[in-house]
Order: sequence, then structure tokens, then C-alpha cells
Amino acid sequence: MIYVRLHPIRNRPAREIRAVPTKVELCKAEEVAEGSALRVEAEGLTVAVFNIEGQFYVTDDACTHGPGSLSEGYIDGDVIECNFHNGQFDIKTGEVVSPPCMIPVKTYPAKVEGGTVVIEVD
Ligand code: FES
Repeated sequence: MIYVRLHPIRNRPAREIRAVPTKVELCKAEEVAEGSALRVEAEGLTVAVFNIEGQFYVTDDACTHGPGSLSEGYIDGDVIECNFHNGQFDIKTGEVVSPPCMIPVKTYPAKVEGGTVVIEVD
């Protein structure tokens, strides 16, 4: 039998628990040529790393509309066009640019540390 001890004070505010961001190393910056994307699996995530004019951006790799892989899509400036139904997202913000996508794609703030592209995940 398992006994659970209850807190004796009622109506006490719950303690706030904050997740500590976890740094995730994705790839070497040199692996992603300017104007291209690389699919990376790390720490349970599958993301697309984009190099847009020397700046790195990271989104989920999975299109929010279906089975498309954004790292295999077509880059036009700041826009990625899904390789499946040609929906489009803003690479920097994840916002939908063109249907049939309706749901923004998740983005992750990215930076380069010691030549490695890293993101922080909650
Ligand atoms: S799967 Fe990407 S637009 Fe449909």
C-alpha cells in the first residue's frame, strides 16, 4: 500500500516550477551552405537548420500541414516552400506565408557557438 502525505495548509499558492532551458548542439555551421537547409535529429527533436545570408534559423522539420520535410523544401529568400503541397512559411518567424498550411511552424532561437549551431529548448 502507498501512502501520500498531503500538505496541511489549504489554499496555499502552488510553487512555480520553471523549466531550465537545455542547450542542444545541432551541427557545425559549415555543414549548412548559405541558402540551404539541413535536417538534424538531436535530443528527440527533428529540426531544419537554415542558413540565410550567413544567419542561422531553426524550425521544426515537419510541415504543419502534412508529411512534408521543410529541410527538403525550396528556399526563396526568407521563405521555405514545403516539398509536398507547396505551402510556405517564413523561415525567421514560422508564420504561414501561403496555404494550404494554416498552422505556423515552431521556430527556435539559434546561435553559433564555437562554430556549432545551437538552440535552447525549454
Ligand atoms: S505537407 Fe507541407 S504543404 Fe502539405
